[in-house]
Amino acid sequence: QDLVARDALRGKRVFIRADLNVPQDDAGRITEDTRIRASVPAIRAALDAGAKVMVTSHLGRPTEGEFKPEDSLAPVAVRLAELLGQPVELKQNWVDGAGLDNLQDGQVVLLENVRVNPGEKKNSDALAQKMAALCDVYVNDAFGTAHRAEASTHGIAKFAPVACAGPLLAAELDALGKALGAPARPLLAIVAGSKVSSKLSILKALAEKVDNLIVGGGIANTFMKAVGLNVGKSLVEAELVGEAKAIIDMMAARGAQVPIPVDVVCAKEFSPTAAATIKDVADVADDDMILDIGPKTAATLAGQIGAAGTVVWNGPVGVFEFDQFGEGTKTLAMAIANSKAFSIAGGGDTLAAIAKYDITDKIGYISTGGGAFLEFLEGKTLPAVQILVDRQAK
Ligand code: 3PG
Repeated sequence: QDLVARDALRGKRVFIRADLNVPQDDAGRITEDTRIRASVPAIRAALDAGAKVMVTSHLGRPTEGEFKPEDSLAPVAVRLAELLGQPVELKQNWVDGAGLDNLQDGQVVLLENVRVNPGEKKNSDALAQKMAALCDVYVNDAFGTAHRAEASTHGIAKFAPVACAGPLLAAELDALGKALGAPARPLLAIVAGSKVSSKLSILKALAEKVDNLIVGGGIANTFMKAVGLNVGKSLVEAELVGEAKAIIDMMAARGAQVPIPVDVVCAKEFSPTAAATIKDVADVADDDMILDIGPKTAATLAGQIGAAGTVVWNGPVGVFEFDQFGEGTKTLAMAIANSKAFSIAGGGDTLAAIAKYDITDKIGYISTGGGAFLEFLEGKTLPAVQILVDRQAK
C-alpha cells in the first residue's frame, strides 16, 4: 500500500503470490470463491498503480513436472477476470519468462499452477531465483499458504529486488494478532472437530492463553470421557483421554475453564435421517452416538460467548450438515453474531457453518487460511511471513 501511495509501481513488473486454491466439483467448476475474491484488492491496487501484474498460486497438490488438466488454474482465470472486469490470460510454462516480455502497464496475467514446477515444494533456490528474475516487486498475499516454505512463498522473497506483504496477508496477521496477541478479555476459543489428535497442539497452546476453551465434536467426547462420563459408541480417542484431563486440570489451576457438556443430542446411527434424541450426559447409553451438544449446554455456552471480549472459532460443535444435529452449532454461531466480542473464524467447516447460518457479515474477521490459520493458533512461526520480516530487518 505504501508502494501504491508513492506511485512506485508504475511500469513495474509485480509478481503476486496469491492463494487461489479453491474447491472445485468433479466437473472442474469452482464451488466456493472466497479466496479469489480476497485476492482482488492486491491485484486491483497494483493494476490501478500502473503495474504489469503477474499472479500465481498453487491449486491442489499436483505431482511436480507432471501437469494434468485438472491441475489447471483455467477456471480461476475465468472467475478472476469476471471479478476484475478485465481479461486475465493464463500463461503456461512461464518460469523462464516465456510470454511475459510484452506485458503492458495495467495488464494482468495468471501464471499456471506454480506447484507443477520442479523445486517449488522443496523451496529450490534455483527456481526461486528464476521467479525472482521475472519481477521488480514480489508481493506475498497468500495467507492460506504462509505455513509452507516453498519457492514461491519463501525462496523468492530472498531474491526479488523488493519483497513485501500484500493487503490480505497484512489484514490476516493484524486480525489474528488482535485476537491472540493483546486480546480483549475474556478470551474464548471454540475448538471443535472430529479428532483431538489433529488439534492437540492447538488445544495445548490455547489452554495456556484463553480464559475459556470450548471443545466440540469428537474432541468433546474425549474430554467428556476424561471426566468420567459415558460417551457410548461415540467417536473417541481413548489414548488421548490423559492429555484431555491434563488440559482440563491445567486450565482449572489458573482459574480458566473447559466447559463440559451437561446435555447432548444422540442417535443410534450416523446418517442424515437418524432420529435425534436429547439426553442429559448421565443418561447416554452404550449404543448412543453423540452428534451435537444439547440445548442446555448450548444456552450456557452462548451466555459465555455473550460475555467474552474476544472469540476465536475453529470447528462446528456438532454434525451441522444434518439439520437435526445442527442446533448446537447454530446457537453458538448466533451468539457469536450477536456478541460485541471481536470474533475471528477460520477453517473450511467453520466457513461452511457461517455460510449456512448466514452470519458472514457478523464475524469480525474470517480467515482465508486452513492449515495456516491453525498453525497461527498453535503459536508457530509462519515461514512465508518470517522471511519477509527477516528481509526487512536486513
Ligand atoms: C490450504 O488450502 O490450506 C492452502 O491452500 C494450502 O494448501 P496445501 O495444504 O496443499 O499446502
